[in-house]
Amino acid sequence: MDLELEGNVALTTGSSSGLGFASTKALVREGVNVVINGRGSDQLQSAAAELREEAPPDTRVHPVAGNLKDEADIDALVEETLSEFGQLDHLVTSAGGPPSGPFLETDDSDWQNAFELLVMSVVRLTRKTADPLQADDGGTIVNITSRSVKEAIEGLVLSNSVRMSVIGLEKTLSKELAPEVRANAVLPGPHETSRITELVEQAVERGEYDSYEEGLAARSEPIPLNTLGDPDKLGNTVAFLSSPKSGHITGQSIVIDGGAGSANL
Ligand SMILES: NC(=O)c1ccc[n+]([C@@H]2O[C@H](COP(=O)([O-])OP(=O)(O)OC[C@H]3O[C@@H](n4cnc5c(N)ncnc54)[C@H](OP(=O)(O)O)[C@@H]3O)[C@@H](O)[C@H]2O)c1
Repeated sequence: MDLELEGNVALTTGSSSGLGFASTKALVREGVNVVINGRGSDQLQSAAAELREEAPPDTRVHPVAGNLKDEADIDALVEETLSEFGQLDHLVTSAGGPPSGPFLETDDSDWQNAFELLVMSVVRLTRKTADPLQADDGGTIVNITSRSVKEAIEGLVLSNSVRMSVIGLEKTLSKELAPEVRANAVLPGPHETSRITELVEQAVERGEYDSYEEGLAARSEPIPLNTLGDPDKLGNTVAFLSSPKSGHITGQSIVIDGGAGSANL
């Protein structure tokens, strides 16, 4: 299916690896010019090289390093996107995740850090991109969050709590920025990325599992489709939500968890 995105411009954050990278790859394959982001320069450059191999002729990949917890870096990221491409049609937000662990082991700085990374980054990116996204034929926002907003996940109090703000924001934007901009979220269950490696390693350190393999298997077992998520498939959903083919979908939060959740809606 041609998603009718060729020649568009997307800014994707936290996109030098994992779900942000996979979403960018799906957009690039459709001929979308992209600005990609992450803090680590080496990883960002190698992600850009990999994406260029996927890109049709004339599709450009522009890496911009920056920390999503830093407002000045976000301003620079958006300004460089606009000076490089002169327009912005799609914003896809992703970032790292907060540390795991029980509530009584968190302190104020853990909560503030999680809020800066997961919420204020999206607030600032959206504020800064709202005008260009609304211009011309309008645009889309897709926030990559977590299934933890649908059902609280054991040991992830920061994710369970803080990410809810992004869903409230996304739903509000779907009204306030309509009809020019559609805003949706995807809520991943466990996917094969470095984030899962990090969470399983933390659980092994806390003594919840005897080995990394045991921790990984425990994350796959409750999934009816019997496997961890494939980031590329999530990326395809993000590209679809960014495309006119999903033109009547806005304000929605789509769970991508292989059927693991038990909420009816
Ligand atoms: N993978 C899963 O199973 C899963 C499930 C549910 C929810 N999620 C959530 O989905 C999001 C993406 O996860 P993922 O699996 O793609 O993680 P990942 O593979 O670790 O990728 C995270 C990306 O964000 C970048 N990043 C991290 N902190 C950043 C910062 N402060 N500023 C700029 N870039 C930053 C990383 O690059 P640098 O480190 O170089 O900055 C990397 O490109 C996270 O919020 C995660 O919690 C993931």
